[in-house]
Amino acid sequence: MLQRMKLWGGRFKGEADEGFARFNSSFAFDRRLMEADIEGSLAHAEALAAAGILSEGESNKIARGLREIMRRAREEKGYLDSRDAEDVHSFVEAALVAAIGDAGYKLHTGRSRNDQVATDLRLFLRGEIDTSQELTREAQRALIELAEANSDCVIPGYTHLQRAQPILFAHYLLAYYEMFKRDRERFSQVRARVNRLPLGAGALAGTGFPIDREAVARRLGFDALCENSVDAVSDRDFVIEFIGAAALAMMHLSRLAEDLIIYSTAEFGFIELSDAVSTGSSLMPQKKNPDSLELIRGKAGRVFGHHAALLATMKGLPLAYNKDMQEDKEALFDSIDTLRGSLGMMATVLRNVRVNAERTRIAATENYSTATDLADYLVRRAMEFRKAHDLVGKIVTYAIESGKSLVEIPLDDYRRFSVLFDEDVYSEITVHSSLLGKGASGGTSPARVREALSKARAEIDHG
Ligand code: ARG
Repeated sequence: MLQRMKLWGGRFKGEADEGFARFNSSFAFDRRLMEADIEGSLAHAEALAAAGILSEGESNKIARGLREIMRRAREEKGYLDSRDAEDVHSFVEAALVAAIGDAGYKLHTGRSRNDQVATDLRLFLRGEIDTSQELTREAQRALIELAEANSDCVIPGYTHLQRAQPILFAHYLLAYYEMFKRDRERFSQVRARVNRLPLGAGALAGTGFPIDREAVARRLGFDALCENSVDAVSDRDFVIEFIGAAALAMMHLSRLAEDLIIYSTAEFGFIELSDAVSTGSSLMPQKKNPDSLELIRGKAGRVFGHHAALLATMKGLPLAYNKDMQEDKEALFDSIDTLRGSLGMMATVLRNVRVNAERTRIAATENYSTATDLADYLVRRAMEFRKAHDLVGKIVTYAIESGKSLVEIPLDDYRRFSVLFDEDVYSEITVHSSLLGKGASGGTSPARVREALSKARAEIDHG
């Protein structure tokens, strides 16, 4: 146990209630900010030295002490198992004093835990955002690989979970590629607002020492300063914003998970998940369950919850700092861990999908999936679309009643509905021609999808 002077004991006569000390302590979780805390403190010590508040010798001694703490935290098992630290900041200060003596007490000059914790969080989150972006890119890569390996595969596209129109499986997968791309964009937009320096704001009023905040910002790789000292220590919008971006990414992952779960049922039979990402049942020997995907879907809810929780935590807080804000950390950490785990799992699942292209082809052909193409045929022969829609509706009803598919209806019957029909109608209502017809940009024609897929491949390899 570290011998130390408390961070704030001077005006107190009584001891803290033990239960309160435990309730108040965040060290069990905010020790995760240790590296960021030390990085920030190293920069602060330099700034104090530059301002002539610390001697070179003191500043070097502090830096050595801080590095030593970092090394021990990384290497020494049990080093962080301190039960009595209030938070990561008080732990580091106490450890510093234990390592280098009274010079350690000088480090907190011109600084408050309020600007310190905001700095730590921003430094930490910046790195985590970079990791989230990398993992999102890996999930995109897995989508592309699956699309490339099944580039001819056609599936029924759905609306209302009813078969709608045939689309290429690759086109479907690239829809998620686009969603993940926006997720990455969002992460980098959030990062730009995260990457600002609060240090130098002090408790709330600014610091009374001539600290060169610009130099500290440069030293720590921040793009800019938090301009107002009260704002710098008061807001956690950057945390909420990141969790919001993570929530959207989780929503996308969850929808993809849901699709794949449905597609892997016996009822659909479009895909099979390999044993590597499936589990069995403790009772039913025949079962193979998509737990990996269900967990992704389930975990999305946690991140949505953290987002709502933090908004609620912040909404009534008077400026500036309030201890309520300590609650930001577990929400943020769990959101990060959940997002990371889910992105990684999704990439793995996608690499363990086998597609039953025969089954999807049949499904894409059935249920009058090219009825819209039949209406378009009439439109190209100068019928108004609404009238063509109505007429094809009647043709479909007739086909259902006579147990025929669209290609099985004889031309004479077609012509009874409209004289605009000719022999060439049959070649225009196949799945293949339906796909070919969607050649406008963004559509599912094989040429467009090939183009989109190679663009995506280039983005992911070189972008
Ligand atoms: N552990 C605290 C938090 O996370 C650090 C800041 C404490 N500041 C204070 N004035 N009590 O919010």
